[in-house]
Formats: sequence, structure tokens, C-alpha cells
Amino acid sequence: MRRTLTLVRVSSSINIKKMPSSIIIKNKISNFNKTITVSGDKSISIRWVLFSSIANGVSRSQNLLRSEDVLAAITAVKKLGIKVNLTKKNCTIYGKGINGYNYKNNLQINAKNSGTLGRLILGLLVNSTKNIKLTGDKSLSKRDFKRIADPLSKFGVKFKLKNKKTLPLKMIGSANLKPIKYFEKKGSAQCKSSVILAGMKTEGTTIIKAKKSRNHTELLCKYLKLPISIKNRTNHDEIKIRKTKYIKPLNYNIPSDISSGAFFIVLTSLVKNSQLTIKNVNINPSRVGVIKILKKMGVKIIFKNTKFYKGEKNADILVKSPKSLKAINCPTKYNSGAIDEFLVIFLVAAKAKGVSYFKNLAELNQKESPRLKWGAKILNKIGIKTILTADSIKIYGNPDLKINKKIVIKNYLKDHRVFMTSVIAALSFGGKWQIHDRKSIQTSFPNFLSIINDLKK
Ligand code: S3P
Repeated sequence: MRRTLTLVRVSSSINIKKMPSSIIIKNKISNFNKTITVSGDKSISIRWVLFSSIANGVSRSQNLLRSEDVLAAITAVKKLGIKVNLTKKNCTIYGKGINGYNYKNNLQINAKNSGTLGRLILGLLVNSTKNIKLTGDKSLSKRDFKRIADPLSKFGVKFKLKNKKTLPLKMIGSANLKPIKYFEKKGSAQCKSSVILAGMKTEGTTIIKAKKSRNHTELLCKYLKLPISIKNRTNHDEIKIRKTKYIKPLNYNIPSDISSGAFFIVLTSLVKNSQLTIKNVNINPSRVGVIKILKKMGVKIIFKNTKFYKGEKNADILVKSPKSLKAINCPTKYNSGAIDEFLVIFLVAAKAKGVSYFKNLAELNQKESPRLKWGAKILNKIGIKTILTADSIKIYGNPDLKINKKIVIKNYLKDHRVFMTSVIAALSFGGKWQIHDRKSIQTSFPNFLSIINDLKK
């Protein structure tokens, strides 16, 4: 029998039992005025683990995200012979240098749900003269790994992918790598980053022309004074990376994740007379598409206490709910900076006056679940009309949206962002919701529901 979790109001707080497989939400959330902290940035956490594993010496982090994706990265570098010490507060990684991995032939690495880990680690293994097998969970095993096997093959790596496209894959690297010229056309930071890591292991200069995407890898390389050069053009970046011999240890206090904060930014936008401050969030310009889009839709958002930290920009985010929301014809220049936030942004479009239009978003269907399709599915379930194509969605907003029926969300490949978007919809729009696969939040944001609880107190 499936166990369910009931989110009911118990003297204005939510009652959450231990780790059930689904939750039930029956009540809208009341307006709030709060300050919260969300967990550490997932992209930066995984990069910190990988860079520390190839640094020359001991690196420490604070506020590392404790989620399954990051724990999978730690397990992976441990399998590669790197010592890691994880305590309640800190994580310490004893890096052995760029060629310091030590492991047996036919090593198996499980990237679980994480595309970032799965793709980036391949870049670090390009010089492996031992066979390696990379696996992932059901969702990751449906995702495209040809997009990264293709450029890495040009360095001299040999790959065997399931159906020439997916995991599990087998690979063997080369002791005689050749630098490549690579045009990254999808706007994938994972592919770009993987090729940068491979370039760090390769004699000569690897040249990358990359469509705009998050640039945490480049910023880390710059901060560590690695042999990288970056030219920012209007629509793409030109990156040159040379063979790297020494990487200094990297002590890092990881800022909060705007992709996790986005759920609460949207909740605040949808609950009248509410205000929220989210402390010390990474506001790297390549990540703030959600802020730009929501501001255009009428939400009041400001950054406070902006600070620069190791090449990254962090700030407190203050959000105030607006009186009304406007539809948006979303400029495609915001797409890459909001790529993980569209599902929850669609909820704002559902409540806005007019028809919103989001286009050139084929990449959304390449995520943990086909998210463009799931966006439409959730909206249709709550009575919002959509017109969906392979790469776009039109959303017919209804400012008077109220839900009185039962909504069940299941079979979505346990995509954490589908789960969290559904919770935000339930708390904002009402209705009786049953949302399956609660554990999906473990991949990116394990304390998501306890923050929801705090907002109700
Ligand atoms: C990420 C890049 C993006 C993003 C993912 C994290 C990263 O994926 O969707 O959640 O950390 O580099 P793509 O590179 O596939 O666009």
C-alpha cells in the first residue's frame, strides 16, 4: 500500500510525516512576510567537488548542497581514489592533482539523476587508459549523452553508448589527446564545461565557441588562474583553454541556489500581500533569467547587499507580491538564464492577464523529464489553456484562477522540479492535490518542504 503525506493546517503549520511517497495538499497558504535561506547552489557544489578532486592539496567547503546529485559526485571522486571527509558543517577533499586519480580497470561510476555530474566527469576522464562504465538512474538513462561523447571523441576518447545515444556508456580515454575546436550550439553549460575540463588535460589549445549558458566553470578556472581566456560576444562566448599542470586548493563558501529560491520567488508572486527575503543567493548574470522574466510580468524584485565572491556575484533577494500580473512574450535571450525555472515561471503565466508566449525551448524537453510537456500537462490539469509545440508554449492566463477539484501528479520520472512546481501550484491556487514521489526533492533540495512549513508559521 502506498503511504501518503497530508499537508493540512494544524494550528497554522503543516504536518509533515517522515519520508512518505506522496503528499496531499488541501489548503492554500496564507500571506507571509519572511526571511529564508535556501540550500547551496547545485551547479557550484558539483563543480567544487570535481575541481577539488584534481587540485593539488586540501580544499574545504561550507554550505555544500547535501543532495543526492552532490553526494553522487562525492561517491564518484572517492571511487577515483580521492579521499573525502564530509561532516555536518564542512566537506574536505584531499585532491591529488590533475592526474591524481587512481582506480581499477572497468570502474563503474553511477551519476544517478545528475546530468551535470554525468557529463562533467567524462571530461575529467579523457586521459583514462582504463575502461570506465558510466550509469545513471531511469531519468538520466533517457537523456542524450551523444552530445558530449561526440566532442570528447574528437580528443581521442573511445565511447560505446546504448543505442549510440544514452547511458549506460563505456569509454576508454587516450594517453595521446589532441586539442579540438568545438562549437557548442545548444546552450548547454554541461557540454561546454566537460570540454573545458578535457582541454585542461590536453597538450595544446582547445578552442570553444559556445552559445550563452551558465559560466560557473569559466569563473572557477579564472579564479584559480588556470590557462583560460574568455571573450564574451553578444550571442556566444569564445573560450580557449590550455593544458593545466597545477590547481591550487579551493576553499569555498557556497552561496544559495537561485533555482531553489525560484520556487519561493514564484510563491511570493502568487500569494497576495506577501513579501520574502532570500539570503545570500548566487545572482551570476547567467542565472538570473527568472528575475528578469518575473519583473517584466510585474513582480517587484530587488537585490540587496550585493557582494562579489571568488568571481561570482551573490545578494539577498527581496520579492513583493504585485497587485496584478502581466502576460509576457518572453524574449529568447532570457532562455538560458532561466532554463531550470520555466516550469515554475509557467505558473505565473497561468495567473497573468493575457496570453504568454515562451519559444525556442526545445532543450526543456531534454531535462530530467520532458519539462515543456509537463508544464503544459500541469496547466491543463488546473484548467489553463495552452498551445504546445515541440519547442514553444502559449499560456492563456486567468487572473481569477481558482481550483476546486482533485489534481493528481504522478509518473513524471521523479523530476524534482515537477514535484516542487506542483507544490507551489497547490499552495497558490487551491484545490485538493496528491503529488507523488516526494523523495524526488532529495536530488536538489531536500529541505524544500521544511521551508514551506516555516512560511506557514
Ligand atoms: C547545469 C546546466 C544546465 C542545467 C542543469 C545544470 C550545470 O543543463 O539545466 O540543471 O550545472 O552546468 P544543460 O547544460 O543541459 O543545459
